[in-house]
Amino acid sequence: MNDGSPWPALEHIAYGGDYNPEQWPRETWHEDVRLMREAGVNLVSIGIFSWALIETEEGVFDFEWLDTVIDLLHENGIAVDLATPTASPPAWFFAAHPDARVVDRDGGVLGFGSRGMVSHSAPAYRDAVVRIASALAERYGDHPAVLMWHVHNEYGVPVAEDYSPHAVAAFRDWLRERYGSLEGLNEAWGTAFWGQHYSNWEHVGAPAAAPTTVNPAQRLDFKRFSDHQLRACFIAERDAIRAHSDKPVTTNFMANQEFTTDLWAWAREVDVVSDDHYLTAADPEAHIGLAIAADLSRSVGGGRPWMLLEHSTSAVNWQPRNIAKRPGEMARNSLAHFGRGADAIMFFQWRASRSGAEKFHSAMVPHAGTDSRVWREVVQLGASLGRLAESRGSRVRANVAILWDFESFWAQSLEWRPVQDLDPRERIRAFYERLWRDGITVDFALPGADLSGYKLVVAASQYLLRNDDAANLTRYVAGGGTLVVSYFSGIVDEHDAVHAGGFMAPLREVLGCDVEEFLPLRTGSSAAVDYAAGDGTSHRLDADEWADDLRITSAAVRGTYAEGPGTGKPAITRNEHGRGTGWYVSTRLDADALETVMGDVYADAGLAPAGLPEGVEAVARSGEAGDYLTLVNHSDADAEVPVDGVDLLTGAATGGTLQLGAGGTAVVRLAR
Ligand code: GLA
Ligand code: GLA
Repeated sequence: MNDGSPWPALEHIAYGGDYNPEQWPRETWHEDVRLMREAGVNLVSIGIFSWALIETEEGVFDFEWLDTVIDLLHENGIAVDLATPTASPPAWFFAAHPDARVVDRDGGVLGFGSRGMVSHSAPAYRDAVVRIASALAERYGDHPAVLMWHVHNEYGVPVAEDYSPHAVAAFRDWLRERYGSLEGLNEAWGTAFWGQHYSNWEHVGAPAAAPTTVNPAQRLDFKRFSDHQLRACFIAERDAIRAHSDKPVTTNFMANQEFTTDLWAWAREVDVVSDDHYLTAADPEAHIGLAIAADLSRSVGGGRPWMLLEHSTSAVNWQPRNIAKRPGEMARNSLAHFGRGADAIMFFQWRASRSGAEKFHSAMVPHAGTDSRVWREVVQLGASLGRLAESRGSRVRANVAILWDFESFWAQSLEWRPVQDLDPRERIRAFYERLWRDGITVDFALPGADLSGYKLVVAASQYLLRNDDAANLTRYVAGGGTLVVSYFSGIVDEHDAVHAGGFMAPLREVLGCDVEEFLPLRTGSSAAVDYAAGDGTSHRLDADEWADDLRITSAAVRGTYAEGPGTGKPAITRNEHGRGTGWYVSTRLDADALETVMGDVYADAGLAPAGLPEGVEAVARSGEAGDYLTLVNHSDADAEVPVDGVDLLTGAATGGTLQLGAGGTAVVRLAR
């Protein structure tokens, strides 16, 4: 029976990690499976970078070692997430096909000795990935140990854009298909400016490094094209697998970490969404970034349970400072992912490498061995997850959507903007953080999605907004929804051209205002907003970075600039439209300053903060077998949470109040 969970064959939440046994002598494999059993590991990802050891020369395959590993795992009851090794083509491949190397934007050719260094547009690479994927699927497609397929690894890193001749030729074909004619292309790219008009398709190229800034519409299309090329490679491999195997196929995303791929489009192509997530060590509240990644992973899959395919037991090795996880932090991270819909908790990697690039990266079996804090926590986590089996397939429901549009992020991140380093994620994080602290669960959504099920939609960073998507947001509000829009949204169309009618013109009707001129602040200077709250109180809110000179048509002004370039002008507006309300916040407020404004927004939306103790995260999943509230205490203080049910991690009834110790976790099956 498939209950909505993608692993009908697994009886538990999946637990394990990347297993790279080819690094170790065979005696170690036997110790590995013994320890996996001790830790409750039931799924491992294998073969991710093993191409050179499987296809030793073009068309010559050695499956002996892989047969042995898969059989050994199977004998020990451990299922396999079998990878195609196409993120690291062998040395022989590059020797035979030097044209399949990536050319970077500056014209440099990227060499061998790393990973991910191949041109996804090279015909030889396309042929080679289909050959190896077919060979693996033919041999292992029906193997009882193989639960699923892991295609490639993290498409889009380390290289997303390739400027090789193969890519340029493919880009031209892609543009022909998209625009039909050269006139269409000239129009879309606005080539009348700076003398860029094209009269011959052969003259159209990739937006390689040039003397100064390159046509932004061309660059945006190249980002779309590059994403499309990566996806085409995935689809080719997936279809090669499907010819021999009916097991689910995934590829590991990097939600909220990399923006090279449009995960909405990718999620439509995979059988199960999976994500890799690593904490940003420099962020003291990295668990909020984690929550964003988890919610995004769930959202792109339409709410389906998803897999956390990689995270770390402790420190990584690739950030400027790699901070070890504190005791219990690995469990808190894992439970936070689970609470937000993950049905698999996996790590990079099983056993720490002695050699190679990642030897200082933590693992489930650390260099220190099993007499270690990390190992004891790994065993404990396996036992905890083992108690959550009944919750598999249950789903999270959210009343709030924050818009998340990769295409808009790509466009906003191009050069020559009013403020050059406006990171589209910054506003999303601020609004998300407000909602996180208020204990309100969030989905992410595209601006063109059906939003009617949400009480509140936040457009925190929607620089690029298509007219039909703006119409969708307007309809959503007319139908009774509450919309909050933050600054530098609704500015350009899909070609990065400013909307006819001016900045924010497509949102004028729903917001009752538009933007006459941007008034960004000098670095380090601040604005202040006098805000009149719905309860009659007034508040001086700290603001910085940005202000607008707004043109009000029908909106009520709720906040006025008290300092900075906008002094005396409207800063925050509220507009009733149809049966709903559209808010506009024209400056940067942090999560603290947003509290007052969002309090009024919640009132319009019929929402209220959950009233959780500070630092406590609580998210509900609902399924046929029950409703489960996952609680994670990120603070150093013990907390009490009113909740009635049984904590599955301990088996104890809460008796109406859960005592959640500092750093503690619980998964309460709610009394019905
Ligand atoms: C220079 C150039 C103009 C224009 C302006 C913009 O002066 O000559 O074409 O790019 O900069 O400030
Ligand atoms: C990524 C990769 C893994 C490993 C980890 C290290 O997620 O997929 O192979 O390099 O990073 O954090």
